[in-house]
Amino acid sequence: ASTLGAQAAQSGRYFGTAVAAGRLGDSTYSTLLNREFNSVTPENEMKWDTTEPSRGSFNFGPGDQIANRAQSRGQRLRGHTLVWHSQLPGWVSSIRDANTLRGVMNNHITSVMNHYKGKVFAWDVVNEAFADGGSGQHRASVFQNLLGDGFIEQAFRTARSADPAAKLCYNDYSIENWSDAKTQGVYRMVRDFKARGVPIDCVGFQAHFGTGGPPASFQTTLSNFAALGVDVQITELDIAQASPTAYANTVRACLNVARCNGITVWGIRDSDSWRASENPLLFDRSGNKKPAYNAALTAMGGT
Ligand code: G3I
Repeated sequence: ASTLGAQAAQSGRYFGTAVAAGRLGDSTYSTLLNREFNSVTPENEMKWDTTEPSRGSFNFGPGDQIANRAQSRGQRLRGHTLVWHSQLPGWVSSIRDANTLRGVMNNHITSVMNHYKGKVFAWDVVNEAFADGGSGQHRASVFQNLLGDGFIEQAFRTARSADPAAKLCYNDYSIENWSDAKTQGVYRMVRDFKARGVPIDCVGFQAHFGTGGPPASFQTTLSNFAALGVDVQITELDIAQASPTAYANTVRACLNVARCNGITVWGIRDSDSWRASENPLLFDRSGNKKPAYNAALTAMGGT
């Protein structure tokens, strides 16, 4: 096939992109979105600061704009994200009482998932809960500080009850290199969840890479997680300077793992990227395909 989404679909996978509601009116952007991608992830519109800016008052407008558009075009939708320490409104981060926070977290998960039931196929239930560096432990956050290590399990159990049909993912960055302490920390958590029957279906590897692209162990990491009985997905791919080889290596690592069922790039054109100065995406500012685009398509067997 001659587009990313159509070619990925030939092996039962998807090729998606992050989408910003504010760019949908840009015709270069929407033309590429419609043509190339069969999955979308709202870049900011389903985060807590947008969806529940004050307690109990939900705003689904921006998320719905993306969700309804994706649905009408037959694109899958990844939900991003329910519980994250960042883009968290002040009213949540200033809670000081564990019971209050537990109720607020469960209500947020339940309300947002209920709203998008039947539209979102996979949710990033918890995002970036592990610390950088060598500890292999959770990072500090209002959730960790008040609810302890069990907040992640609590979030996944609540999510399963809210929408039993949705795939429930843990999503993080810098967990691509197998030997890193952070990777090992997440691996131990997933292993423990599977052993104890805590509901988890997938692990998202953000894959925000430097110029060299993925670490040599990336495919090993994907297959080791998959062997625990979860799907794995590349959820926020971008690569500084977008070397074609680095993109091809990333795509190949996923294709070589049966349970790697999709790849999402974190934006369409370089100018749409949170790392715009590094030109990390598959299309240039004018919407032209870059060499990395052809490398990614070719790596999937497309032309
Ligand atoms: O919407 C406001 C606008 O009203 C305001 O005038 C403007 C002034 O700064 O800010 C706008 O909000 C910005 C928002 O993006 C929407 O453009 C925020 O400042 C800015 O911080 C926010 O950045 C997002 C970032 O997450 C926040 O953490 C990026 O777009 C988004 O790409 C990025 O995505 C994250 C993933 O969710 C999780 N993994 C890492 C990834 C990259 O940081």
